[in-house]
Amino acid sequence: MKNVFAKAAEEFKGRVAVITGGSDGLGKDLARELISLGCRVFFCGRDPRKGAAAARALGKAATFIQADLADVSQAQSFIAQVRQQSKSIDYLVNNAAIDPRIEFHSATIAEFDRLLAINLRSYFVVAQAALPDLMSGKGKAILNICTTNYMLGLSPFTVYNASKSGIVGFARSLARELGPSGIRVNTLSPGWIMTTKQLREHVTEKDKKELLEAQCLKRLLTPADVTPAMVFLLSSVSCGITGQNLVVDAGKVMCGA
Ligand SMILES: NC(=O)c1ccc[n+]([C@@H]2O[C@H](COP(=O)([O-])OP(=O)(O)OC[C@H]3O[C@@H](n4cnc5c(N)ncnc54)[C@H](OP(=O)(O)O)[C@@H]3O)[C@@H](O)[C@H]2O)c1
Repeated sequence: MKNVFAKAAEEFKGRVAVITGGSDGLGKDLARELISLGCRVFFCGRDPRKGAAAARALGKAATFIQADLADVSQAQSFIAQVRQQSKSIDYLVNNAAIDPRIEFHSATIAEFDRLLAINLRSYFVVAQAALPDLMSGKGKAILNICTTNYMLGLSPFTVYNASKSGIVGFARSLARELGPSGIRVNTLSPGWIMTTKQLREHVTEKDKKELLEAQCLKRLLTPADVTPAMVFLLSSVSCGITGQNLVVDAGKVMCGA
């Protein structure tokens, strides 16, 4: 007799997952894992070269569709193109975001609107566009990627955190609305994760030392440490969990959020 995890691993076979922003970082690692479990994965990004390279690396079960989610029509067209190539959408992972460091006193309205459009509005637009497919799909799970940054009120992130904290309220009410249809909606908030981009552009040796001091677990997290928690929230192992925000940060933040 198979245990609960072995059964859950099998349920991904032949199913379809849509990931926004799967050409890099956490989204790409999740795509790799879902494909290894037998999923077909559609993902988007703005940069066609990066997207095509990721699709090549992920193999034939991965399809890259170029879309800038800051644009509502491109976000809707992303899902329409998935629909043309696939009979179903079983899982949706709203993951794409940008995290520019912007000082509050000099932040412009254009910067604010752009961040909100990508980091929050696209979660709404893509979920709404994919809803009919998710309703008839087998996975019936939406996962929204947020951050612990807003819980800590880090600086200079007022605009980023205005966008990110909105995801939590959005996801909770969506969980309530879609629960009767059997669709679960959860959020996952990573701490600081050592992605290629974070290591290239932001993380210093001093940051690493301070992070390790602040975390319960004394090791730096990589995307591979976050992916299993994402798979958990998509799988039927978490069938009783909806409207929740799971923190994956090696124990830096320990508060109800
Ligand atoms: N890494 C961390 O430390 C960390 C911590 C907390 C939360 N998070 C959250 O985790 C998620 C993934 O972050 P990450 O670190 O993996 O990011 P990443 O490495 O920068 O990857 C972001 C992905 O999103 C795509 N993307 C960005 N803007 C887009 C747009 N306008 N339209 C379509 N695609 C877009 C990117 O492709 P293109 O550039 O080609 O568009 C890329 O595929 C985000 O929601 C982020 O806020 C990350």
